[in-house]
Amino acid sequence: MSAKDVIIALDFPTREETLSFLDQFPAGEKPFVKIGMELFYGEGPDIVRKLKAMGHDVFLDLKLHDIPNTVNKAMRNLAKLGVNMTNVHAAGTIDMMRAAKEGLAEGAQGEVPMLIAVTQLTSTSQERMQKELLIPNTIEETVAHYARNTQQAGLDGVVCSPLEAALVKERCGADFLTVTPGIRFADSAAGDQKRIMTPEKAGKSGCDYIVVGRPITQAEDPVAAYRRAVKDFLGA
Ligand code: C5P
Repeated sequence: MSAKDVIIALDFPTREETLSFLDQFPAGEKPFVKIGMELFYGEGPDIVRKLKAMGHDVFLDLKLHDIPNTVNKAMRNLAKLGVNMTNVHAAGTIDMMRAAKEGLAEGAQGEVPMLIAVTQLTSTSQERMQKELLIPNTIEETVAHYARNTQQAGLDGVVCSPLEAALVKERCGADFLTVTPGIRFADSAAGDQKRIMTPEKAGKSGCDYIVVGRPITQAEDPVAAYRRAVKDFLGA
């Protein structure tokens, strides 16, 4: 299942901006891309169909979290779009995650998309998790516990901080996928990301897929930045 790759976060508000960004890549180079809530809610399912038709693998990052029946039905429809990877919140419970997985399998036209779960958002601090969400454990233990729940539900892996990837692999095994945002080159701005890692270090820390947004999309030469991320991450 695991095939290391760099996923570009297409955090653009419109189809036009997204396509003009991708236009910079030569015809034969089709990076794995992530469509998040901003683009999906602005442009609808057609943007997924468009990028798939252009030859891109697509991670649809909508982080579903609802009752199992609703998530099951939603996943059936997302699978019909032909996405390669999508996700739910592990906080939705093991039952919800199982229902999501079943929905994807039912809706898939060919290969069943990879399904991963968000453990704790990287924007949630340990203090807020403990005080607001009343989860008394450390972030690391909570992430590891949610990862085990995710595995028990039969999903393929989790979204986590690159700093947690090694722990997730230790608890869930080498084949359990870790998909990690919070990636920065040593010389790029951190922005709002707090717990960051370079592509090179992420490659050595058990990350299977790194999600890279602004260090590529805001770069002076995005194609060069993408190639640099791939080279550093894969050690090629
Ligand atoms: O620009 P940057 O590299 O920070 O983009 C990271 C991407 O990963 C964004 O699309 C962000 O929404 C997403 N993400 C994240 N942290 C999570 C889950 C998703 O940064 N825990």
